[in-house]
Amino acid sequence: MNTELPGFGVLQYNCRIVYFQTETCPSTSPCGGSTVRRINLKTVEDFEKQDMSIAENVHSDFSVELANRQRVINTMLERMLAEAHDIDRDLREALRYTLQGPGKRIRSALLMWSCEVVSGTINTDAEVAAAAIEMVHTSSLVHDDLPAMDNDDFRRGKPTCHKKFDEATAILAGDALLIFAFEMLAKRISEPAVAVALVAELAEAAGPEGMIAGQMADLKAENVKGTRPLLEYIHTNKTAKMFRCAAAMGAICGGATKEQYDCLGGYGLKIGLGFQIADDILDVSASSEQLGKTAGKDAKADKVTYPAVVGMEKSKELSRRLAEEAIAIVEPFGRKADILRQLATALLQRKK
Ligand code: IPE
Ligand code: IPE
Ligand code: MG
Ligand code: MG
Ligand code: MG
Repeated sequence: MNTELPGFGVLQYNCRIVYFQTETCPSTSPCGGSTVRRINLKTVEDFEKQDMSIAENVHSDFSVELANRQRVINTMLERMLAEAHDIDRDLREALRYTLQGPGKRIRSALLMWSCEVVSGTINTDAEVAAAAIEMVHTSSLVHDDLPAMDNDDFRRGKPTCHKKFDEATAILAGDALLIFAFEMLAKRISEPAVAVALVAELAEAAGPEGMIAGQMADLKAENVKGTRPLLEYIHTNKTAKMFRCAAAMGAICGGATKEQYDCLGGYGLKIGLGFQIADDILDVSASSEQLGKTAGKDAKADKVTYPAVVGMEKSKELSRRLAEEAIAIVEPFGRKADILRQLATALLQRKK
């Protein structure tokens, strides 16, 4: 399997990732400058030195694809909120403020792409489900930032919900988003059986055996000496299960077979764990301006993170390995899963 991308790219060879850069051949070359040639970047560090960020210049086609998904999800969220007429004015303002923050929309994009990989198209069910998972994710951020949890002042480049409004409004805005998501699934999915499957999937991933379990363990682990099993438990539950869920919900919307559903879910779990490791790494290595949220918070709160427990180099190696494993899992889909390969690579390179 070979994923050739103009600009920068990744080639999978025997389950190893090879990074490369491409350039147009000079006009003096035998092909007369009509083809693009590949220059292997010898080390991952060479590759990482390239100025790449998730929505900017990772790879032109990928960033266009992601921007398209972001536009769709933003429109869906806006429309769903506008069509709910009886929301209290102050609560509506808090919901709009929170939803309109420039989130990367990775989980919702993954959901839509998984549907496309399975069925060849992104149907309306996938768009509704994408809005639902984005609402649940956003609700988790509003609550995660509260003083009783991570006590953060900035999110998505703006004051957090409780800073902009007040704590009670933020608690209620988080609750509202969480519940609204399930209302949308119950009311707007085409087939009742599909709606029930999506509700079950999202509730399981976000609930007490998923994200909430991870958030609880994350808080209990503050000021505790971290171990690899504890880390893996926290990160899998608080983050990776929502990525697995996004891919699985997309598979359901696309009418996947059991094999396709398992395959996509497995991919989601791997990139989700890698995503949280990268989040831990960025908390140490990036600036608050870059992230749109306060950097350096994990060390101050004495959180159990990958860099704190296994060190920075090992953390980077683990996230690379997870991306490789994710790419290997979607092999059975062939070229149809190129967008998922690009996503795995882009997440490895993300700078925010
Ligand atoms: C932040 O998620 C919370 C984590 C699980 C690390 P994102 O980095 O996806 O946040 P947004 O949605 O882009 O703001
Ligand atoms: C948050 O993890 C995970 C969830 C919101 C479920 P973090 O606490 O590390 O996320 P950030 O760094 O605040 O975005
Ligand atoms: Mg947290
Ligand atoms: Mg936090
Ligand atoms: Mg973090």
